[in-house]
Amino acid sequence: MCLFDLTEIDTIAKFPSTRYQGSKLKYTDWIWHCVKDLSFETVLDAFGGTGCVAHRMKQEGKSVTYNDILKFNSIIGKALIENEDCFISDRDLSFILNKHSNISYSNFIERTFADIYFTDDENHWLDIVATNIRHIQNEYKQAVAWFALFQSCIIKRPYNLFHRKNLYIRTQDVERSFGNKVTWDTPFPTHYRHFIEEANAAIFFNGKKNRSLNKNVFNLSNHYDLVYIDTPYISEKGIGVDYLDFYHFLEGLVDYENWENRIDYQSKHKRLKINGSEWTNPQTIEHSFECLLQQFKDSILAISYRSDGIPNIYRICEILKNNGKQVVLHESRKMQYVLSKKQSTEILIIGK
Ligand SMILES: C[S@@+](CC[C@H](N)C(=O)[O-])C[C@H]1O[C@@H](n2cnc3c(N)ncnc32)[C@H](O)[C@@H]1O
Repeated sequence: MCLFDLTEIDTIAKFPSTRYQGSKLKYTDWIWHCVKDLSFETVLDAFGGTGCVAHRMKQEGKSVTYNDILKFNSIIGKALIENEDCFISDRDLSFILNKHSNISYSNFIERTFADIYFTDDENHWLDIVATNIRHIQNEYKQAVAWFALFQSCIIKRPYNLFHRKNLYIRTQDVERSFGNKVTWDTPFPTHYRHFIEEANAAIFFNGKKNRSLNKNVFNLSNHYDLVYIDTPYISEKGIGVDYLDFYHFLEGLVDYENWENRIDYQSKHKRLKINGSEWTNPQTIEHSFECLLQQFKDSILAISYRSDGIPNIYRICEILKNNGKQVVLHESRKMQYVLSKKQSTEILIIGK
């Protein structure tokens, strides 16, 4: 039985702002518009990222499973999708942002990442806050607390990434044609409080069981009515997005105790050791799509794609047809992606 008014919920829960690479936040209403007349109750967001598409489906009363191979992302899924009613209070915030005499603090970030991403003071602050968050008992509150820390770290980074040792871009005294020095220099606690507010505003109960998983997509079961697929993108020049390379610092934060052993000390920017992925290699991505679309052939498939992606759209449609699907293409208006000079069209490929 539904004990509340869904329309009211829709207007209350607002998805947080995001600077995550490849986020579909601007497209969630359009994606919903494309799938809303299909018959489905359970939905898997198989490459969940920020969770904005999963959240949009949750707003529509679907039973949503979020998944992402990166642990930090799956924690975002816990905070915003699986979480029904755990918020961060002012008291929690005061615990997170202050040092406590009964907790012992490591200076791992300060020692390891000097001059790489953040200033010494900021690294010191990160060691304290990451330690406090690990002391929060309630897993959903802890997830919300991590969420705000990830967003605060991302917003203070040039390009919003951790792919280079480039703190100097923030600190050197030069004329800039890009970036946002005010945002970079805004203190961590200010950003943190803001993102806690955004997260609290996004948490709601939709009357259904929703959950967050942290698996390689190929290890997921295939019992969902609809599967939404938004793989890492490889441009027509063959350049792929390696999400672990871009966001390793956040993945390290959520494995603070083992972080030290997972770092590739040959890399100047002290990233995590990277295995490479079938989704970032132009030689293997087509085969990965073949396996993936076969794996989920019993579900309705909704695939976000770019008009200039590898493999091309016609090949994706062919693979869908080989799996017995009828294919419908939806094309959004033209959008220019951040850092990209070319215009690229966002496509939603539906296989029914
Ligand atoms: C294009 S992004 C998804 C963006 C998301 N739709 C959004 O709007 O925020 C692709 C995501 O796939 C995840 N990913 C990469 N390889 C994966 C795999 N083998 N299994 C599951 N997730 C994977 C990445 O961590 C990344 O967050």
